[in-house]
Amino acid sequence: MRITLEEASRLLQQGEVVAVPTETVYGLAAALNHPEGIAKIYSMKGRPSNNPLIVHLPSLANIHDFVKEFPVNFFDLASAFWPGPLTIVLKPVPGSIHRSVTANLSTAAFRVPNHPLTLKLLQKTGPLVMPSANLSGKPSATCPAHVEQDFGINCPVLDGGVCVKGLESTILYYLNDAWKIIRLGSLAPEDLQPILGYLPQIDKSNAETVICPGQLYKHYAPEARLKLIDGNIDSQLEGVLIGFDDRQYPKKCRVISLGPSSCPEPAAQRLYTILRQLDDEKIVEAWVDIRNLPQEGLWLTLIERLYKASAMK
Ligand code: TXA
Ligand code: MG
Repeated sequence: MRITLEEASRLLQQGEVVAVPTETVYGLAAALNHPEGIAKIYSMKGRPSNNPLIVHLPSLANIHDFVKEFPVNFFDLASAFWPGPLTIVLKPVPGSIHRSVTANLSTAAFRVPNHPLTLKLLQKTGPLVMPSANLSGKPSATCPAHVEQDFGINCPVLDGGVCVKGLESTILYYLNDAWKIIRLGSLAPEDLQPILGYLPQIDKSNAETVICPGQLYKHYAPEARLKLIDGNIDSQLEGVLIGFDDRQYPKKCRVISLGPSSCPEPAAQRLYTILRQLDDEKIVEAWVDIRNLPQEGLWLTLIERLYKASAMK
């Protein structure tokens, strides 16, 4: 059900859940000060209660309501990229954020999203918590129709069109005297280098050293089995193949294109729509061409999402 900004604001202030657009993916929002709305988010998504939510702020100035001590370069990062696809994990003042948001961690994740409607909404409602607006484990939603596929036509959605970026925000955490990327996202590691003076390391957490709890769960996965191709393609290959406009594929393959292999932005914007299309068409398996993609920039995020979606390690 598509709703207006005023309706979204009213529902959120009553403790209801509303799907809202951001530049990365749609979020399933509840007001930060409404624990019952927050509980509803977890149950609607089927999300494990130990997977914390990101606090979305109207502006950088609002961070002072929650955090008093900041790691080096925090304000440089936030001034450079907020509003935008960067989430920063900080230590809030104890008790300033409900434990259902932080999943009992001593840290909380913050970002200012860059979407004109949602920035207006945040000005009215104050901080909102929102995970991506998809059933837990499924590809994120990048348009209102995706949200309605997962949560039904009666789910209130603030329609902000198709998300410009199409992949989630990049998450940073300051640990052992350096900023680390704990989730790859729409902002490339190289974009952070001029601000930090170094290329932040990408944290590979595992069950022992978990920093970003969500990274441990199955993610972004369609029902269809994805089979990644990193070597030669057999000329007799058949079936659905997710590939690129400018590459040649065996004649018997039905190619669904991510766009040109020379630039990652269109692929990022289309990826989740394509993964959802496989399920809409009841396709049971699909090949994915990941041959010779650059191991840098936004490609790193795309490749990571494809590995996760295929559950191949
Ligand atoms: O682009 C995005 O970030 C979107 C839009 C809606 O803003 N949101 C999003 O939320 O992707 P979600 O819940 O799907 O992913 C949030 C990730 C999870 O992996 C969670 O574990 C991690 O952020 N996270 C949240 N709080 C954290 C914390 N205090 N420490 C480490 N990781 C945290
Ligand atoms: Mg998510």
